[in-house]
Amino acid sequence: MKINVLTLFPDMFTPLTTSMLGRGLEDDKWQLNLVNFRDFTTDVHHHVDDSPYGGGAGMVLQVMPIKKALDSLKNKGKVIITAPQGKTFNQKMAQNWSHEENLTFICGHYEGFDQRIYDLADETVSIGDYVLTGGELPTMSMIDATVRLLPGILGNDASPLEESFAHGLLEYPQYTRPEDFEGKKVPQVLTSGNHQKIDEWRHKEALRATYLYRPDLLENYNLSKEEKRMLTE
Ligand code: ADE
Repeated sequence: MKINVLTLFPDMFTPLTTSMLGRGLEDDKWQLNLVNFRDFTTDVHHHVDDSPYGGGAGMVLQVMPIKKALDSLKNKGKVIITAPQGKTFNQKMAQNWSHEENLTFICGHYEGFDQRIYDLADETVSIGDYVLTGGELPTMSMIDATVRLLPGILGNDASPLEESFAHGLLEYPQYTRPEDFEGKKVPQVLTSGNHQKIDEWRHKEALRATYLYRPDLLENYNLSKEEKRMLTE
């Protein structure tokens, strides 16, 4: 997968070159192309923004440098703008995007985008109901969530299938040594060696955690009779 990012701050993306994603880049499992759209300005001062028509405070990103930067790309794939008014990013979107050959993110900064920039994108996506200074951190979050699903990025290929949201539920609790920490013991079933019982316990705990902490997720989850019984037990 090749990901293009249009940004005024390419240096902000160094975190993606470390850890698992960084190793993935080195191993050519995915590619990151950072494009500074200031390079596509034509005026001597390389302005990318201007004051809003109709007046008012702040500056607005101009459409032309972004359009030219997009046109310079060989394969854009799906074009995504990050902005608070977009639809909220979730695991399902990360899963869908992880099957794309190419993705292009447009990161805004300053007060906002000229409205016509939105027409250059396929989707406007937010990472939550709060306002950040720019689209770089949202873009990095979305890239991380997407790229980690690509084959060979995580050490253990099976793990994305087991984690939170993968089946519409939160993840079950995990434990490792010691078996007893200050009197808090690992649930006995996990040391029993009975894998059927362990699977049942994990599923029940995933249901329970979702019911307790994110009951909204259960609205889109078809509870079987057996699962309903587990929850009310
Ligand atoms: N840019 C500024 N705030 C944002 C948010 N919450 N999500 C996506 N992009 C943003």
